[in-house]
Amino acid sequence: MYSSKITGMGFYVPDNVVTNDDLSKMMDTNDEWIQERTGIKERRWIKEGSGDTAAVMGAKAAKIAIERAGLIKDDIDFIVFASLSPDYYFPGGGVQIQDLLEMPTVGALDVRNQCTGFVYSMSVADQFIKTGMYKNVLVIGAEFHSKGLDKTTRGRTVAVLFGDGAGAVVLSRNEEAGKGVLSTHLHSQGKFAKELSVLTPSIQKWVPALMEDPDDLSYYPYMNGQLVFKHAVVRFSEAIEEGLTANNLTKEDIDMFIPHQANLRISQFVQRRFKLSDDQVYNNIMYYGNTTAASIPIALCEAWEKGKIKEGDLVVIAAFGSGFTWGSIVMRW
Ligand code: ACO
Repeated sequence: MYSSKITGMGFYVPDNVVTNDDLSKMMDTNDEWIQERTGIKERRWIKEGSGDTAAVMGAKAAKIAIERAGLIKDDIDFIVFASLSPDYYFPGGGVQIQDLLEMPTVGALDVRNQCTGFVYSMSVADQFIKTGMYKNVLVIGAEFHSKGLDKTTRGRTVAVLFGDGAGAVVLSRNEEAGKGVLSTHLHSQGKFAKELSVLTPSIQKWVPALMEDPDDLSYYPYMNGQLVFKHAVVRFSEAIEEGLTANNLTKEDIDMFIPHQANLRISQFVQRRFKLSDDQVYNNIMYYGNTTAASIPIALCEAWEKGKIKEGDLVVIAAFGSGFTWGSIVMRW
């Protein structure tokens, strides 16, 4: 049986930096509150008219990843695209990537697992490579959050958290024993589906019905912040433990932990729990906010660009988010 490894990575974030002070001009919030609760100093928000969307940013990140893999677009056998903020209700963003990159008519799959979207996508790509069906799979996480946020005081708890951006990797067939993706683990608990959600417009409440009810703001993200926090710290930890145990590894073996950038306080809690030093954890939520499906590939790529991930390192990735869903990836670089 084959295994898979990352051969190329890239990310793209819009130029437009939005600081906490900028937000305080739109809503009743302040830099101190945001930094203290979330660690976020600034985020990137797409500027109206720039042409960027989840698919466009995803294609930009993908181009870099394909080039760094030493491949051309025709070498890609399959596309997996994760986003909770795709350009259209349907079709999904995967087919747009195929078109934007002018790729051959390869398959394109959309993954709808929000903050865990990239972990789910990698797991799918890994399985396709393990079976021998595909050799090079493009995996993208991309989010255009800013347009869909309630940027008034009413929506401040959620609006301050999220940023726009995209990250991509090429996952390729690996021939080297003990290298690449060692395991992926995925979980869900739909009983909490509404605790972090955007519920409309949906088939249950379509646009005309929404327009009849001006008090219904369910087209903005809803988050039960404290419940999400409580579950996140538990599930992050479980996901890491599960990945380590499956590979007969312990927390001492971790060289680099890349958490989904949900909230710096969640990452720090998990870091303390596993007694990891600052050098063993990569966080960049301070500069990009929570970019959901894009957060892990952006962080992974940035950590690698800064030389923080080296050949032979054990890299552990974990995510938790809406669904609830959570999961992990353990990789030997
Ligand atoms: N600026 C200023 N004040 C605010 C803001 C804001 N942006 N948002 C809320 N407040 C106020 C509230 O109105 C409240 O005021 P009150 O005490 O007068 O009523 C006070 O701050 C505390 O509000 P809480 O909602 O209780 O704040 P909490 O301490 O729970 O922090 C937060 C909110 C940061 C969202 C926290 O619950 C959290 O981190 N939850 C985890 C969720 C998360 O990280 N989600 C990321 C997306 S999901 C994912 O990626 C996993």
